[in-house]
Amino acid sequence: MANIESILQETRIFPPSAAFQAQANVSGMDGYQALTARAAADYEGFWADMARASITWKKDFSKTLDESNAPFYKWFYDGELNVSYNCLDRHLPDKAGKTALVFEADDGAVTRVTYQALYNQVCAFANGLKSRGVQKGDRVIIYMPMSVEAVVAMQACARIGAIHSVVFGGFSAKSLHERIRDAGAKLVVTADGSIRGGKTVPLKSAVDAAIALGGCECVEAVVVYRRSGDASAWNAARDIWWHDLVNGMAQTCEPEWVDAEHPLFILYTSGSTGHPKGVQHSSGGYLLGAILSMQWVFDAKPDTDVFWCTADVGWITGHSYVAYGPLALGMTEVIFEGVPTYPDAGRFWKIIQNHQVTTFYTAPTAIRSLIKLGADLPKNYDLSSLRLLGTVGEPINPEAWMWYYETVGQNRCPVTDTWWQTETGAHMIAPLPGAVAAKPGSCTLPLPGIMADVVDEHGGSVPLGQGGYLVIRRPFPSQLRSLWNDPERYKKAYFPEELGGKIYLAGDSAHRDADGYYWIMGRIDDVLNVSGHRLGTMEIESALVANPLVAEAAVVGKPHDIKGEAIVAFVVLKGVRASGDEAKKIVAELRDWVGKEIGPIAKPDEIRFGDNLPKTRSGKIMRRLLRAIAKGEEITQDVSTLENPAILEQLKEAVR
Ligand code: WTA
Repeated sequence: MANIESILQETRIFPPSAAFQAQANVSGMDGYQALTARAAADYEGFWADMARASITWKKDFSKTLDESNAPFYKWFYDGELNVSYNCLDRHLPDKAGKTALVFEADDGAVTRVTYQALYNQVCAFANGLKSRGVQKGDRVIIYMPMSVEAVVAMQACARIGAIHSVVFGGFSAKSLHERIRDAGAKLVVTADGSIRGGKTVPLKSAVDAAIALGGCECVEAVVVYRRSGDASAWNAARDIWWHDLVNGMAQTCEPEWVDAEHPLFILYTSGSTGHPKGVQHSSGGYLLGAILSMQWVFDAKPDTDVFWCTADVGWITGHSYVAYGPLALGMTEVIFEGVPTYPDAGRFWKIIQNHQVTTFYTAPTAIRSLIKLGADLPKNYDLSSLRLLGTVGEPINPEAWMWYYETVGQNRCPVTDTWWQTETGAHMIAPLPGAVAAKPGSCTLPLPGIMADVVDEHGGSVPLGQGGYLVIRRPFPSQLRSLWNDPERYKKAYFPEELGGKIYLAGDSAHRDADGYYWIMGRIDDVLNVSGHRLGTMEIESALVANPLVAEAAVVGKPHDIKGEAIVAFVVLKGVRASGDEAKKIVAELRDWVGKEIGPIAKPDEIRFGDNLPKTRSGKIMRRLLRAIAKGEEITQDVSTLENPAILEQLKEAVR
């Protein structure tokens, strides 16, 4: 792989400038090492101190970590808090008039929301939820566009102890249906539609379609925020407009004090089976991870920073670094409704200029596509407000890193490449920008208190320079607590017996260089990373075989310049193999189908047809072979165990 080769040759190193280091929250390697040494010497004491310093507790905790029922860990578990209180109420005495959110709409309209106004809106909506019978522990699905209201809905759930599950607005009715049912949601919050790049996409009608698929009797109400003007059917017994719900509601609402382990949210993500996993996060430990990573990795300066994370609230990044982290610190943050390329590819740079953004956090895929659409565009904007850049979601190739550093950051801003996952809740491995020197393409060193390692299949550490499984050896506060409805899968997927049953297996492979720096090599399971979005190959395969034309399907990834990975599907049709125009027609039909089954992000980039798939005599699909074919590589592997070697020639032919 070209990317891996260029990473292996990467030797450039970028230490923090003296000026950045001097003002940093964690300054110099001494500062970093003091924290890691403290964590190593007294692990629980370290985390307990951090939790007391960062979070306002209603009732202090006396217990820090419970490992008695490993891997079901508990942190700070006799303490009581409320996450929304920590994000809002505690700032009101001195920051009521400070801007919390700067919302920039797709069309450029800007709305500023102060901490007082956000508090009022969250309380009113929380009261609205209560008026519809939502109580502590009930699940609420949030299927919303990027908006102030999406954050309000999440915070309002946190305020009353309801467990939210945000579903990305790009997921289909079918995906939404699966999540509503698995979560057993009592209420769904949505909008009539979203507006992105000048186009509207209906959301409420997808909710209707999801519920119509059946088995959603749990849903008692659907709250609809009016945004796009998209029309949909209206069920007066169930549907209510957002503005009607909050009308007349009190703008104060006593927070529900919950214990630290109370689930804050469920977020579904892809794994190696056809069904997404409901990653369940806690209140106390999760909040601590969000706060510490803001301070350590983003060097947060609440009084002067303007923070902008471009992630949608439908992903973990939008949870930790849009809905919770920045607000818990009392920062000003930008929320953007639209897309980076509308009305033109300078949109991100213009937003940074107009709102004087200091800290900018986005995905490598966005960086790569913006390089392609206008490598010189950033120069047309005043980006002097920037002081720190971050990336997340996928490996960043050194070329993109250098462009980000030189052209966007003007050789002035440290770049922090943050490795973490839906499951970890917060950054795990990333340079603390005033301490750890960066190397393009490496996420560098673990955060203080994160006991990362690279191991072999028995859990033994591998020497520097050697690849292996990325693991985290000790439990840490922000990690997932379970999989919703499926604790067995939680154990199996993340704490395999082979590794002793207590070590967190991330699902990525990695190696460390001579300096101990981590280099992420990719997933070890059947998970693809397409434009920073996690997708399971099995999910896409299940969607394909659900189509009446399809007998069998196998999905693999292949490297893609911009998206990181592209989706290639090998399909066996019922009846004869399609060719010519007929094949083109079926390809279009199947792509559409997958868009409807999962969402447009899961549409295969390429579909190839065969009379059957390459299998071993025991019937296993040889995915390694399919990956080689997808990449256009010469097949050098031993194919003698193949049942049907002749099939390979057929599958080399892509439908164009
Ligand atoms: C990948 C996103 C390399 C990785 C926060 C991980 C990365 C998966 C990086 C999690 C990075 C995330 N460098 N790879 N800096 N960050 N990944 O759950 O494969 O959507 O396991 O969380 O993305 O994706 P998820």
